Amino acid sequence: MYQAVYTGKLSGNGVFTKRCQKYFEDKYGFKKALLTTSCTDALEMCAILCNVGPGDEVIVPSYTFVSSALAFVRQGCKIIFADSMESNPNIDADKLEALITPRTKVIVPVHYAGVACDMDKIMDIANKHNLLVVEDAAQAIDSYYKGRPLGTIGHLSAFSFHETKNIISGEGGMLGINDERFIRRSEIIWEKGTNRSEFFRGEVNKYGWCDTGSSFLPSEVVSAFLWAQLESMQQIQDKRKLLWNQYFAGLQSLAATGKIRLPQIPGYATNNAHMFYLVCRNLEERTGLIKYLKEHNVLSVFHYLSLHKSEYYTSNYTEIPDLPYCDMYADCLVRMPMFYELTLEQVDYIVGLIKEYFNKI
Ligand SMILES: Cc1ncc(COP(=O)(O)O)c(C=O)c1O
Repeated sequence: MYQAVYTGKLSGNGVFTKRCQKYFEDKYGFKKALLTTSCTDALEMCAILCNVGPGDEVIVPSYTFVSSALAFVRQGCKIIFADSMESNPNIDADKLEALITPRTKVIVPVHYAGVACDMDKIMDIANKHNLLVVEDAAQAIDSYYKGRPLGTIGHLSAFSFHETKNIISGEGGMLGINDERFIRRSEIIWEKGTNRSEFFRGEVNKYGWCDTGSSFLPSEVVSAFLWAQLESMQQIQDKRKLLWNQYFAGLQSLAATGKIRLPQIPGYATNNAHMFYLVCRNLEERTGLIKYLKEHNVLSVFHYLSLHKSEYYTSNYTEIPDLPYCDMYADCLVRMPMFYELTLEQVDYIVGLIKEYFNKI
């Protein structure tokens, strides 16, 4: 960061931005990577690039963060919410085709907890119906589907470097482009609708307004922070996996009683240890667990509320779908502390408390 400050070049698209983007392109194989100020921004860029608008439908899981849907709502699209799988909060690819209509344009699989959706099935359906696929890979950095990096399979993808993620820059994100058709326009949308990137590369002798867009690029201060994280990526990932495995092993005996369910990683997916969650049998037991842990100074948190039941959706849409597995995860899933500085001893302490709570009920 000091280096970014001392060069005096603090605005976007400088040395550190380019260095981070090249790192991601080389390591994961994106045709192009563009840093953004958040994953929400990257999703908004995706929605613009998909060229969708009023009358178009976009399929999004209901168990996700608002931004996965909101980016497309801002373009005027209608959101069709899909259910999760029973075994895993990800979108149920087997139920996707039933949601497709002649107006469907995009599918947005969200790799919950960094665990891959069944991308072969999703891409087959998309290709069959001529749809675009935008991977919401907010939580999925350095995670894979059948050996392929998440975010490189769909036409476009969006990552988050928000402080809650594995690799962080406070706020931050990235657009991944895997279809060459989108490269030129993405740079223009990124730079306030101008072809400034081409000008900086010396490809044109002046730049101007060519398209819609916004100021989606981060400052060099943010990119320099991100670069420092990338330099420690292996160390960060190794530590998180160690912590995740300690939780998983420690809770096996409790899971065997049927009182809780542990995350299941499908054979086609890897685990980037973004999150350690468990699934309680019902809302009451989850509420009690969160309270019990809080009494012992441990902060555990539930996650998404079903978007199809949100104030926004229910006041703008008349048909509210029935999505039982989404509702089940909204009521029963709870996330345990997971951050780099956490120690194995602290994980053991938390595991002990979880067992204590469930022994009492
Ligand atoms: C699945 C998903 N998509 C998008 C976002 C938005 O990310 P950001 O905060 O970087 O905009 C989040 C945030 O946690 C998320 O979980």
